[in-house]
Amino acid sequence: MTVSSPSTPKGSVSPRPVIDPDVFGSPEYAANPYPTLKLLRDHYPAYRNPKNGLWMITRYEDVVNGFKDTVNLSASPNGESIGGVFGPTLMEYDGDDHTKLRNIVAPQFVGMKLKTLLPVVTRNAMALISQFTERQAKLIADQASTAGEIDIVDDFATRLPLNVILDVMSLPQEAHEMFHQWYPAMMNGINGGPHLRALGVKANQDYHDYLDPLIDARAKDPGEDLLSRLATARVDGQQMTKAEIKSFASLILVAGAETTDKAIANLWYQLLSNPDQWAAVQANSELLEPAFTEMMRVHPPAAAQMRKAVRDIHLHGETIPAGAYVSLSIYGANRDERVFTEPDRFNIFRDDLFLGREMRGGYQQDGRSGHLGFGLGKHFCAGYQLARAETVIGTKMLMPVIRNPRFKAGTNPGPIAIRIAPWSLKLEFDAA
Ligand code: HEM
Repeated sequence: MTVSSPSTPKGSVSPRPVIDPDVFGSPEYAANPYPTLKLLRDHYPAYRNPKNGLWMITRYEDVVNGFKDTVNLSASPNGESIGGVFGPTLMEYDGDDHTKLRNIVAPQFVGMKLKTLLPVVTRNAMALISQFTERQAKLIADQASTAGEIDIVDDFATRLPLNVILDVMSLPQEAHEMFHQWYPAMMNGINGGPHLRALGVKANQDYHDYLDPLIDARAKDPGEDLLSRLATARVDGQQMTKAEIKSFASLILVAGAETTDKAIANLWYQLLSNPDQWAAVQANSELLEPAFTEMMRVHPPAAAQMRKAVRDIHLHGETIPAGAYVSLSIYGANRDERVFTEPDRFNIFRDDLFLGREMRGGYQQDGRSGHLGFGLGKHFCAGYQLARAETVIGTKMLMPVIRNPRFKAGTNPGPIAIRIAPWSLKLEFDAA
């Protein structure tokens, strides 16, 4: 038992459950953090973990305010986690330093630029799917099998966003396998222990060594790609240093590939766990748009974002002291029953979720609220539209190829995105 209810003290109206801080490191929490996050929302909306001093904020309103509050909260902890593997990036900067760098990268993924990226997404999805179907047809014929098999993670989800980001940076697709090793290692290094951290730093170094001559070449003879843009960008009249360009390129590789691969797999997992909703999107693939939005609410790829209190913050009768680390829990906020009814249920038809394109400033009107899966405010995800396009277009194209898919016996992984180790989502489907 990790949580117990002590008897009600005299005069007190309702008992507060006791939270055992060991729960946060337990396998139960890794497999399903949501019951504990509900206890925090209901009883400890500003909770300090006595083991490590981390403050956890779990209610929707508070997390929204936390993302928007750049006066009291700094994004500097991103420097210790992400920066520890990639080197410094805009994710750890506050104020003007952040704005300057963001202006280089953010316009590359929205508006007209995004329009030019959509055919890139479609082309890459088509190439992957035709490779896969050829391989499957051969396997099925060789083994006289009536069922095909796909690992949504290894065969598709970890491939498509990577190929798109390689095209965006104009890096050769032939190097795919190398990048496919590097980016999960880099990601695992961010939050992992010393061994994973060392592997992440090594993968990052290999990636930087690979980029080194390419950056020189693009600086001399720039193209239209993102690496050329980084190699030639000027911030306040100054060119970025090579080290800055490389750490920025690390962020783009990992942010572009890692999170979106989980988004694709999570969407398939949620839909196949809810056969009525799978049937609905089969009948009308336009419903993949609200399905993506609902997946980003119920179980998005990023669980929380870390901040540091710049000064004392008073919240729910507690004082978060200056210098304390604060975790803005996206998982906690997105399942807040104060905002979403039946929050644990994946329901693409819900009427309390804002289904339009995500907004940097957030959305809460007309009884609908936006999910917080891309964060909010200054550090709001720069690739949010690309991630949606890849997930929706890729799924739309893959769906007709995978007839009558079902989880392969014994491999249904349960809530999946939390684990940092590689995982898989194996499906069987009817051979044509
Ligand atoms: C479903 C997929 C994705 C998810 C869940 C996701 C999630 C997030 C979140 C939560 C943040 C905010 C970090 C913070 O507040 O500290 C963020 C920032 C960022 N994301 Fe994404 N992301 C996704 C896809 C992408 C893609 C495809 C790209 C680029 C190609 C990208 C690039 C970035 C960048 C550059 C930032 C830093 C922005 C800043 O600090 O101003 N992301 N992302």
